[in-house]
Amino acid sequence: MSARNFFIWLSDQHWLAHPAMRWNHAWHTAERFIPGQTLHDGLHTALMLQKQNILCDLDHLGENVETTSEAKAAADAYVATLDAIHKHRLKGTGLSIKCSQLGIDVSRKLCIAQIKRVLGRAALYNRFVHIDMEGSWYTTRILNIFNNLRKKHRNVGITVQAYLKHTPKDLKTLIRSRSRVRLVKGVYGESADIALQGYEEIRKRYLELLHQLLRSRCHVAIATHDEVIIKQAQQWIKAMRIPKSRYEFQFLYSVKQGLQRRTAKKHPVRVYVPFGREWWPYYVRRLAERPKNVFDLVKL
Ligand code: FDA
Repeated sequence: MSARNFFIWLSDQHWLAHPAMRWNHAWHTAERFIPGQTLHDGLHTALMLQKQNILCDLDHLGENVETTSEAKAAADAYVATLDAIHKHRLKGTGLSIKCSQLGIDVSRKLCIAQIKRVLGRAALYNRFVHIDMEGSWYTTRILNIFNNLRKKHRNVGITVQAYLKHTPKDLKTLIRSRSRVRLVKGVYGESADIALQGYEEIRKRYLELLHQLLRSRCHVAIATHDEVIIKQAQQWIKAMRIPKSRYEFQFLYSVKQGLQRRTAKKHPVRVYVPFGREWWPYYVRRLAERPKNVFDLVKL
């Protein structure tokens, strides 16, 4: 098993999450990627980024809930986050949410009802909500939910993963409906039957999909830290004279901060800021992306 697959496997071991989250040293290393466990920490980070001309999407951490009350509590937390964003007048700050946090494993109906609550409150404050894309077990269901919501709600966007072989087809539908799309490489452990595996082939597919998105009339979030892709995207944006209202570069909190600041001097930039007590799976996925990060964890 590769180091990447090991960490992806680890992020799915829910029995391990609670003991791991009580491990202080693990939290101190996770703090590099997660600025804190409270809403106040999330808001403070959004304010700091705003001073650098960087927008932000807040993610109240949590995933794979198994009960109706957990799903409703997650939606309550998002509603409270939106109220606080509005109260603190955080310019352009939006949300990133997960369907598995809002009850998709309990029922589709429950999940849609929770997302609608969040979108309704976000619309009141003129805020935007991005839906994350999770493991392939969920892809079709998440896309169906998004396509359904999109008919009535203008303030919702979707994430698609370049490594999935089905994504080019899904993207055609999203482009037809002029949806707002965040393009990522994809972080879950997927089999070669359904997902590209090689670094270069994923980058090549990412660029192909990005080119289609930039030529379309969709708003596109170029969510990557890959400088080859970012450079190419900037050349295309210039050559195609794409206005700033149609795209954003997006980064994960704390990854390549110098690049974030340099990019923000010329282009719209948004940073994904997670906060909350359920930080373990998010943190372990950051280890999977760059197994060298594990050295921080083993430095006891
Ligand atoms: P790549 O992995 O090639 O990284 C390029 C360089 O960035 C690396 O060489 C390294 O220097 C640096 N880097 C990348 N990751 C790092 C890390 N963890 N620690 C330190 N340095 C790192 N995935 C998904 O499946 N569903 C989703 O909903 C989302 N959502 C999402 C939102 C946003 C805003 C971003 C930026 C990313 C996601 N992702 C995601 C994660 C995405 O799929 C992917 O795993 C990461 O972005 C890493 O891939 P890159 O495209 O950055 O390239």
